Amino acid sequence: MIPKAYYVTTPIYYVNGLPHIGHSYTTIAADVLARHKRQNGFVTFFLTGTDEHGQKVLKAAQEKGVGPQEFVDGIIPRFKELWAKLDIRYDDFIRTTEPRHVRCVQYVLDQIHKKGDLYEGHYEGLYCVPCEVFWTDAQAPDRVCPDCRRPVERIKETNYFFRMSKYQQWLIGHIESHPGFIRPVSRRNEVLSFLRENALNDLCVSRPKARLAWGIPLPFSPDHVTYVWFDALVNYISALGYPDDTKKMATFWPEALHLIGKDILRQHAVFWPIMLHAMGLAPPRMIFAHGWWQVGEEKMSKSRGNVVDPLAVIDTFGIDVYRYFLLREVPFGLDGVFSRTSLIKRFNGDLANDLGNLVYRSVTMVEKYCAGRVPALRETDADAYAAGKILPKLKTLPQDAAARLDDLDFIGALEAVWALISACNKYVEEAKPWNLKKEGRTKEIEVFLAVLVVSLRAVARELAPFMPGTAAKILDQAGGDAVKKAAPLFPRIEAE
Ligand code: MSP
Repeated sequence: MIPKAYYVTTPIYYVNGLPHIGHSYTTIAADVLARHKRQNGFVTFFLTGTDEHGQKVLKAAQEKGVGPQEFVDGIIPRFKELWAKLDIRYDDFIRTTEPRHVRCVQYVLDQIHKKGDLYEGHYEGLYCVPCEVFWTDAQAPDRVCPDCRRPVERIKETNYFFRMSKYQQWLIGHIESHPGFIRPVSRRNEVLSFLRENALNDLCVSRPKARLAWGIPLPFSPDHVTYVWFDALVNYISALGYPDDTKKMATFWPEALHLIGKDILRQHAVFWPIMLHAMGLAPPRMIFAHGWWQVGEEKMSKSRGNVVDPLAVIDTFGIDVYRYFLLREVPFGLDGVFSRTSLIKRFNGDLANDLGNLVYRSVTMVEKYCAGRVPALRETDADAYAAGKILPKLKTLPQDAAARLDDLDFIGALEAVWALISACNKYVEEAKPWNLKKEGRTKEIEVFLAVLVVSLRAVARELAPFMPGTAAKILDQAGGDAVKKAAPLFPRIEAE
């Protein structure tokens, strides 16, 4: 049988600052999906990377007083270090300053240009030099920048425009006939009503070199560089070696699942499919826009100084706890609030009381009642509780978790795992092994412990994509013929 292919991407992150919780959220979600598919035998390609061109990055470099390439080269290790620390196993890391990417963007531009979908046009507007923003006459009637109140200049530029308008009806048709293309459904509706109610403007895909030199030169006009979004979106195929690596393209395109934040939906759900269509490529399989994390009542921002630094959280609580919390606390697609209090609540409840407790007591009982040897499970010997409440869950758990994850329902997948954990903890109370021991009912004790250990292994397997370190620890303790007892996995945190 030919293994099925799975392709998942994160946005490529701007490198004008250090990575924060928002970046880590999408990357952890993609890592969980990729690990899950890998362990189920899919040929998996998980792509992340960095968006290195454009105004924002150039400005950050200038503020540091270094050249843009030197600046980005200095930031990339911070991203890679964080991903290593968070146990992220990407298959490729694309940087938009790499030659393989630059070549691909120029190829795409050439194709679209030859096809007649790019035209030269003039762009006129009121420009605020310090903010680097264009305003219309209506937006700046008094000729000052609505943001900073400094005078604006009228400038006229020659630029290249991409005929997006030509493909508007095609895109509406595609979204209508592919209900799972844009998710969650609220985002799909948002894009559809936008497209139905507004005529698309053609997209300005160039910037004059004289105004912004940090970008990929247009192959047919050396005085221009490519608009940073046009450049960035192409990463999803440049990393597949488009157009040269036809094998990799055939394997992974158009299988792509693009995970993004809700703020960059329009670029992904409107610009990108139209760019692909103009190139003769199919749109990606799915674009999923998740919500935003905020801290307390406030939006996270550098100027407010409330940016959640993943490294600080990991140092206190551990990598797996951070990964678990982000995906368990808030439905993927909705906004969430990051707070220490809710993190500690999840830690003490789900992790210490439920999971940690089950592992610890199971292993302890195998030591105490079976001299550390794990008894074999013969299902026919199972008692009523195990037969009714545990064995059926054990059988369906892999499919349940897989179905939930295919639906990007991380909470649902974890709840399926926790249903088994809770059933096992109840089983301990029901079976009362200490009484069985007193009464010398050895065979019953063995069945009971075998059910617990088999369950722990199943829990470890389904939990591995979310909490790889924890899953490995569970298997260390309960994966072999004899148990190896260790300290509790999640010692309770007392209220602060
Ligand atoms: N470079 C572009 C993406 C190009 S993809 C072809 C970009 N980069 S970004 O670094 O500004 O943002 C990357 C992602 O981080 C976005 O998906 C954004 O939604 C996400 N987040 C930024 N802050 C966030 C939160 N506070 N919470 C959750 N995600 C947030 O946009």
